[in-house]
Amino acid sequence: MIRLNKITFQYDNASSETLKNVTLQLKKGQVLAVVGPSGGGKSTLLRVISGLEKPKSGDIYLDDKLLCGKGAFIPPEKRGIGMLFQDYALFPHMTVSKNIEYGLIGVSVANRKQRVKEVLALVNLSGYEKRYPHELSGGQQQRIALARAIAPTPNILLLDEPFSNLDTHLLQNVRDELFGIIREIGITTIMVTHNPEDAETQADRVVEIVDGIASEKDI
Ligand SMILES: Nc1ncnc2c1ncn2[C@@H]1O[C@H](COP(=O)(O)OP(=O)(O)O)[C@@H](O)[C@H]1O
Ligand SMILES: [Mg+2]
Repeated sequence: MIRLNKITFQYDNASSETLKNVTLQLKKGQVLAVVGPSGGGKSTLLRVISGLEKPKSGDIYLDDKLLCGKGAFIPPEKRGIGMLFQDYALFPHMTVSKNIEYGLIGVSVANRKQRVKEVLALVNLSGYEKRYPHELSGGQQQRIALARAIAPTPNILLLDEPFSNLDTHLLQNVRDELFGIIREIGITTIMVTHNPEDAETQADRVVEIVDGIASEKDI
């Protein structure tokens, strides 16, 4: 479960707050879509949850662990959060295996190889360890990026417009595949999307952010 209480955030060089009193709660295994106009604060919300930005006020809990607020601040790498961002591409000069192992620093080599095998099976790409990103289709690359994000067994997955780089004809398939995997592993997920269809077809709940203010939408 993740819980945000009255999160307010302002960029150093900005004249007003980008997130205003955002309160939201998500149960374990739920998928939340975050929609709203460009510049509304969607990506900023994910940056705050992941720990890339520090809120001015408010607090965030993940499974009763205080991530930030009340004087506490846990750095991004210690939060147990998996991220799949639009510009968070695979490293082109690294094999699939190395790309996935990247998130497993601190894990023994044998266990790393084992975990790579496991997550490749989850995304239906067993045996692809030695491939390079350019030897994969767009959809396969996206699944590897998902495998990398989930390899350290995060408690929550954040997706920022994960389908915006895909051709229209690929979009539906890749989206269905990705969410099939997300539902199968049952991971709590927050997905930012500008596509209402993503929100309607994939999410349990939808929150709209307009000008930094979040409100729940009926679906
Ligand atoms: N690093 C930054 N410094 C200052 N302002 C920023 C920064 N990043 C985003 N912003 C501003 O914050 C607002 C919200 O941006 P963003 O969260 O990216 O919106 P969205 O993802 O909904 O399009 C916008 O006005 C944007 O210009
Ligand atoms: Mg954005």
